[in-house]
Amino acid sequence: MFKIGVMASGGGSNFKAIIDRIGEGDLEAQCKFLITNNGTCGAVSHAEEFGIPVYHISGKTHPVVADYETAMMDVLNKYDVDLLILAGYMKALPACMIHRMPDRILNIHPSLLPKYGGKGFWGIHVHEAVIAAHEKESGPTVHLVSEEIDQGRILAQVKVPVLEGDTPEVLAARVLEQEHNLYWKTIRDYAAELRS
Ligand code: GAR
Repeated sequence: MFKIGVMASGGGSNFKAIIDRIGEGDLEAQCKFLITNNGTCGAVSHAEEFGIPVYHISGKTHPVVADYETAMMDVLNKYDVDLLILAGYMKALPACMIHRMPDRILNIHPSLLPKYGGKGFWGIHVHEAVIAAHEKESGPTVHLVSEEIDQGRILAQVKVPVLEGDTPEVLAARVLEQEHNLYWKTIRDYAAELRS
């Protein structure tokens, strides 16, 4: 069985959509852990509901950088997952994690990369920038994680319209709905690619 670990910082709706699909049998995988930098976020509640072990690792829990990195690596080494899934994880990963799992870490980003990616482009700020630039379309991207933020190989994208009068929040909701359809399918397809 394919093993995944998830990292999330916020509401965790992408995390929930993935574990729901696992539960329904659409995605043949086991979720072994959640790593979060926010011990009270929605993703933690979802993990607890599904009995998934939670590791809260942040600058607060591990103020010394070396300890922080060791804690992260300890989780990876303990579970030896096939894929690490970033689902609304709002911090850059330590380079040691990226080196530990080359081409095995996926991220979802709420814009059509390479547009509106990189430093400062996360969460609602992405949608604010898209609207300010009067873009006619936006949409989520799933990509492999490399050391350059949001620049790894693109695995999948879905376009959604940006409508007249959209606020960043309205656009975010339209994009998020597509994220929930896109992420689990991309994980399924990429897992198949790795197996072939
Ligand atoms: C999603 O829109 C995701 O694409 C974005 O954060 C949101 C998390 O929602 N990720 C980034 O901006 C990463 N750069 P969720 O917590 O409900 O899954």
